[in-house]
Formats: sequence, C-alpha cells, structure tokens
Amino acid sequence: MSGDRVLIFDTTLRDGEQSPGATMSHSEKLEIAELLDEMGVDIIEAGFPIASEGDFAAVREISQRAKQATICGLARANLKDIDRCWEAVRHAKSPRIHTFIGTSPLHRAIPNLTQDEMAERIHQTVTHARNLCDNVQWSPMDATRTEWDYLRRTVEIAIRAGATTINIPDTVGYTAPVESADLIRRLIAEVEGAEDVVFATHCHNDLGMATANSLAAVEGGARQIECTINGLGERAGNTALEEVVMAMKVRHDIIPYSTRIDTTKIMHVSRRVATVSGFQVQFNKAIVGKNAFAHESGIHQDGMLKNAETFEIMRPADIGLKDTSIVMGKHSGRAALRSKLRELGYELADNQLQDVFVRFKALADRKKEVYDEDLEALVAARDTAE
Ligand code: KIV
Ligand code: ZN
Repeated sequence: MSGDRVLIFDTTLRDGEQSPGATMSHSEKLEIAELLDEMGVDIIEAGFPIASEGDFAAVREISQRAKQATICGLARANLKDIDRCWEAVRHAKSPRIHTFIGTSPLHRAIPNLTQDEMAERIHQTVTHARNLCDNVQWSPMDATRTEWDYLRRTVEIAIRAGATTINIPDTVGYTAPVESADLIRRLIAEVEGAEDVVFATHCHNDLGMATANSLAAVEGGARQIECTINGLGERAGNTALEEVVMAMKVRHDIIPYSTRIDTTKIMHVSRRVATVSGFQVQFNKAIVGKNAFAHESGIHQDGMLKNAETFEIMRPADIGLKDTSIVMGKHSGRAALRSKLRELGYELADNQLQDVFVRFKALADRKKEVYDEDLEALVAARDTAE
C-alpha cells in the first residue's frame, strides 16, 4: 500500500488485555469491538484464540458481528494455534490470521532453534496460514533487537510464503524515532518482494517513545500502525491510538497521512475502555486525560476566554468533548472568576467582584479545586453581609 492512507490496527482486546489486571468480560469485549468498528478502525485484533475458551468465543463472536473492520486473531508459529485462530476468525466478512515468532537472539534461545530451523518454521507456518486465509500478517517479535541479516532473511521467507502484512514489533519499547524510520525504510528498499506487502509498526512505550516511533515508522514507509485505546498494553503499554490519530490530524502539515477514524468518538471509547479494563487514564494523558482540555492558571484562563487557540491546539469537539473546562483554583484570576460567575447567573459590580475574589483566593489556598457550589456560597455570604 502506498499513498498517504495509514491503516489503524487496534489491539486493545489482545495486547491491551494482556496488561496484568485488564481482563475484560465477553460482553465487554463485544461492546468495545463494536465501538472500534463504528469509529473506523480498519483492523481489530480481537484476541488470542488458543489462549482460552473465553478468548476463542470472543474472537468468534466479534468476527460474526463486525460490520466494516477486518477481524484478526493472534497465533504462535505452530499449526495448532493457526488452525484454532482460523476457526475463530473465519466467519468474519474480512478475516485475518496474525502469526508471529521471536526472531532476536534472546527469543530464538527460548525454543532453542537455530536460525535455519526457525526459518523453516516460519516458511511452514505462514504457508499453512495462507492456505487457510487470504489475509495473513506475520511478525518477527523483538524485530528491533534482531540482527539485520536475519531480520531481512525471515521477512523475505514470510513474504514468499504468502504473508500480506509484515509487522515490525518493537516488543520491548527499545527503539528510537530515527532508528524506527530507518529500519522500515531499509526493509522496503532491500527486502525482495517488499512492494507486495504492507509494512506495519507495533511499538511499546517502555521509554515513552511509542507514539514518536510509530509516526517515524510511517515516515519510513509503514502504512499500518498497531495501537490501543488509552495506550493500554503490557508494561508501559502500546502506542495510544488517540495520540497517533490526532497527531496526524492536527499536524497534517508535517505528518501528511490520514486515517479513517472518526475522531469525535475518541473520548467515549476512551472512557468505556477505562471503565471495562479498570485502568483509569492518568489526568495529564495526551488527548484523553481529564486535564488535557482543562485550565487553571489565570494567564491561561484569561487567554482561553479571549481566544481558545492561545492554549489549545485542538478543539474539544474534535475528540467528542463538549467543552474546555475552566477549573477554579488558587491560580485563577479575576477574569475567569467573573466569567464563571456569569455562567452561574451572577453579574457583579467591580467592587463586589473584588470582594468575592479576595475570599475566593483565601478558600482556594485551602482547597485543591473550588467548585460551582463554593462560588455560589461565597456570593450568598456576601449578599447576607450587605
Ligand atoms: O509486542 C509484540 O511483539 C507483540 C507481537 C505478538 C506482535 O505483541
Ligand atoms: Zn505487543
């Protein structure tokens, strides 16, 4: 695939659910899959069918229900996993088998396979998957710590055996943006058959670089980003869907790629994933954190009241939020207090406002946040004193 379109592959229900403690019930998985499908995710990795009866049932039912998205299941590099995966996804309008094996020296040591033995395993398993399904994704797990010659060799074997997508996982969040772009660029330039497949990027956030690494990979030629809602995922998580999608939208001038995602659905899906996974979103999380569109300092509030572009690079409505939130606290100034009181229906003369402002500051020094009810009480206390 070429051009500026980037496929969004969401793995909230597979890699996301692998976060310790993030297990979701069958009905919760169906709900999240439906939301992802509606928001325009191109490929939903719905689970790891051989992992449990529950995972198998969820992948199968999501496959039966999906309207637009391709439904993908994960399988290790063995025939039993692949057959079980196919059994679960085959009812989808557009099914995909995703099979993987760890190719780095550390991962090759675990099954104790030589390079040649692993190469043979890749050929055999990808061929088997392709005999079942037209759409096969292959991943060399820990690709970013795999020797270049062996990585190239295994990718070529997978392509010859019929893989249609080659995913390059940064399994332990080890790469950096320049390296991420170079690796994809080099694969596309040097791998035989590269022009026949889509290259994907799958980043983890151990060093906080997952979003940057994913976008750099796109710059290098990847046309599928693997990600999760809220960045849910093993350890420090996966690339956050909302971050890469909004980066491409807001900075389209320098990241000129587009997706099919309806960004106005982001906030709702984020909240549902937080609730069903039990993983609350940190307040200052980019895009979907509680504070991402909130302002407390006087200078920022004053700026926002005059022109929202002073301190916001996106409109809250772009991600489905109603409004910016002006939080009243000890850093707030008179302009914000006046505006907040107007919202609550109070029009005060300058001297009255000054009086409430002094008492508001005293209260704000004692409380983290001053709520509407506190402000109403301050105004009422003033009325009584008069
Ligand atoms: O991080 C990883 O390497 C994975 C693979 C299974 C694709 O999640
Ligand atoms: Zn992963």
